[in-house]
Amino acid sequence: MIDWPSRLQLAQLPTPVTKLEKFSTQFDDVSIYVKRDETTGVEVSGNKIRKLEFSIAEALDQSCDTLITCGGVQSNHCRATAVLGARLGLKVHLILRGEQPSKPDGNLLMDYLAGAEISYLSQQEWPAHIELAKKLQIDYLATGNKALFIPTGASDEIGLWGYIYACQELQQDFQNLGFEPDYIVTATGSGGTQGGLIVGADLFGFTAKIVAFNVSDNGEYFRKKIKEDVTLWMKRYKQPIDVANLTINTIEGYLGPGYGRAGPEIFATIAELAASEGLFLDPVYTGKAFHGMVSELKKGESGQLPGARKVLFIHTGGLFGVFPQQGNFSFE
Ligand SMILES: Cc1ncc(COP(=O)(O)O)c(C=O)c1O
Repeated sequence: MIDWPSRLQLAQLPTPVTKLEKFSTQFDDVSIYVKRDETTGVEVSGNKIRKLEFSIAEALDQSCDTLITCGGVQSNHCRATAVLGARLGLKVHLILRGEQPSKPDGNLLMDYLAGAEISYLSQQEWPAHIELAKKLQIDYLATGNKALFIPTGASDEIGLWGYIYACQELQQDFQNLGFEPDYIVTATGSGGTQGGLIVGADLFGFTAKIVAFNVSDNGEYFRKKIKEDVTLWMKRYKQPIDVANLTINTIEGYLGPGYGRAGPEIFATIAELAASEGLFLDPVYTGKAFHGMVSELKKGESGQLPGARKVLFIHTGGLFGVFPQQGNFSFE
């Protein structure tokens, strides 16, 4: 029995699982299924809400009335936090990496509409973002507000619960489907989704292998980050798990020019899936991971998904990140 910590019910759950009937026909012996976590809500869609159900519950447990968090200018996590803050009557202060654009678009537009306070730090100033968060916490205290700092992507020992909890839902999905997939595939950016799935798969005894495609950093970074988060989680929640023996499988090679920047093949994959299945990926996270997964499946047994017959892709959302990059699609 898992001793769950406080959780707010914020997401629309359970999310459905859909088979990509038409897209899968290009493979003789592979079927691709999608866990539709882009449908966890409308304004707060995607994977972040699952983590924030636990992070914001923690904020309320600590009697906080303010949330401080951080990320890129087009961060889905920051948008989700801004919208949930508005919904729950909590003040939200975002620390964003990059220059303030003259016209906010996509997620950033939603941050402003949801009434978030925003501080911008340049790429060079970014290493000081935690210090700034601490200073803001002190400033808020001086005005009688208590602020919880939620790190990038809510990927810490609290946010980890989001995808551990999702594994309980996946267990039910597998029962409904009548099978367990060979692989569960996700994009990994700050490590919390991947880490939660790895721990959840271990706790629920999945046979499916958890595989992530990195959209920032590299495999070594995620091995270290996830081990750190899981170790803190174990200590804080007194959970028995063999951290040293967790398999942290990150497939590299699909990051492209860098975080948030994608090559033409990613935009082509997004367009192909939209036209064939009516399913929309984004160029920062899901587009890269899905493209990586399909590329590896095409390699068959010599690829990095050997033995794949049934694969479950976790659609982690990110739709609003498509619009600021609309100029990269070509429609010839
Ligand atoms: C749409 C989307 N997919 C995937 C991820 C990756 O999740 P995580 O940060 O938990 O690694 C993120 C956030 O970073 C995201 O916004």
